[in-house]
Amino acid sequence: MKIAIIGAGYVGLTTGACLAELGHEIICVDNNREKLDKLNRGKSPIFEPGLEELIVKNQAAGRLVFQSEIKPAVQQAEIIFICVNTPPKDDGRADLKYVEQVAREIAGIINGDYKVIVDKSTVPVKTAEKVKETIRRYGAGKTNFDVVSNPEFLKEGTAVIDTMAPDRIVIGVDSEKAKEKMLELYRPLIEKTKAPVKVVSVRSAELIKHGANTFLAAKISFANLIAQTCEEAGADALEVLEAIGLDERIGAQFLKPGIGFGGSCFPKDIAAYKKTLEILGIDNTLIHAIEKINQEAVLRFLRKIEKELWVLDGKLIGVLGLAFKPDTDDIRNSPALKIIESLKKDGAKIKAFDPQAMANAKKEIPEIEYAQNPYEAAAGSEALVICTDWREFKNLDLERIKKLMAAPTIFDGRNIFNPKEMEKLGFRYFGVGR
Ligand code: UDX
Ligand code: ADP
Repeated sequence: MKIAIIGAGYVGLTTGACLAELGHEIICVDNNREKLDKLNRGKSPIFEPGLEELIVKNQAAGRLVFQSEIKPAVQQAEIIFICVNTPPKDDGRADLKYVEQVAREIAGIINGDYKVIVDKSTVPVKTAEKVKETIRRYGAGKTNFDVVSNPEFLKEGTAVIDTMAPDRIVIGVDSEKAKEKMLELYRPLIEKTKAPVKVVSVRSAELIKHGANTFLAAKISFANLIAQTCEEAGADALEVLEAIGLDERIGAQFLKPGIGFGGSCFPKDIAAYKKTLEILGIDNTLIHAIEKINQEAVLRFLRKIEKELWVLDGKLIGVLGLAFKPDTDDIRNSPALKIIESLKKDGAKIKAFDPQAMANAKKEIPEIEYAQNPYEAAAGSEALVICTDWREFKNLDLERIKKLMAAPTIFDGRNIFNPKEMEKLGFRYFGVGR
């Protein structure tokens, strides 16, 4: 099928590359020239395992094209995906100006042929209706189209795997014609993976995405609440949560305590959902608590550092990990940045290392020092603070780290090490919840 993808960010690029891999013909449109230049040189503008290979392969096969002009892409496409960013406004609502802008552009372009327009970006319930209204308004009453909600559930770092082997495919449609088109689009994936397909109403699909992200964020905050309890009560949160997670009704995933969730999705999506509840007149205490515990996870960790190091002014602190999670270069809402900002405010000097996120971090916090590797970040430092659970940090030569540091103290915000072993190695070691 011929597909247009508007917005070549984390969501659009992964969707485009994966749909091309399934055999569809994709035109990806973006208004960021720099991004397009990179893509047209066969380079992915983001670090996402497996994505660049997929882009290069499908570009070479002629199934994946990147361009700035939206008109030819929309005119030839049967299905048009809207994958632009929906950043949060100050009050937590999702800012839908880019979605509206694309809807207006589409309205001016679509001709008489039937089109399916898909909201792929995470948006509040009833956004599809607004998109439909917008296209009718600015398209002089054109009606030969449907607007569909088809949320993505990809996680950064495993975006390609999540898209090619999804837990489920959610298609929110209000017309039979759109349903058939969407099923035709996903047929190769459904046949290959046997992924369950949920065909639901547009509004339900929009709520599934916000509901799923809120539930996952709630699990993490719950894990952090248990961690706080364990710290005060003298128990081990990892033991407690492992046993809790063995209950099949609960499940082991997303129960890792630490310095809380960050990224471009959870903080934004739960704030938007909180706002939706407020608008609908529903009590949003639960969401408020999820956010509060998440903030407290960082604050408690900082208090631990301050308590142990006492005066921070002038002290050199090594920071390992800047990305909001491993296997990505994304630093949006990364707890690491909040921690660095607070330590800096107290006068500490920071030397940071991240395997992939340093280029992005340098744009945001150019004033700190950056190390070439973890050992350089540890050298001469009074403490090492682990903010991201990159695999390579788990395999560090800890004897070497100890010798390099001014004082062997580790604050492990992701519990990547075992406290007893660290003590045996001669570190003062502080994890979360144990
Ligand atoms: C999330 C959802 O998982 C995905 O389904 C949705 O499409 C987009 O939002 P993402 O933000 O890419 O994906 O990463 P995710 O793996 O969910 O991690 C989010 C944050 O939670 C990270 O900061 C991570 O470190 C943290 N986290 C995750 C924990 O603190 N504990 C856990 O147990 C799991
Ligand atoms: P996400 O993480 O949701 O994928 P990103 O910010 O990574 O969000 O990507 C959104 C992409 O959408 C960006 O590359 C941006 O340049 C692009 N974009 C935003 N508005 C438009 C528009 N009107 N036309 C084309 N591309 C757009």
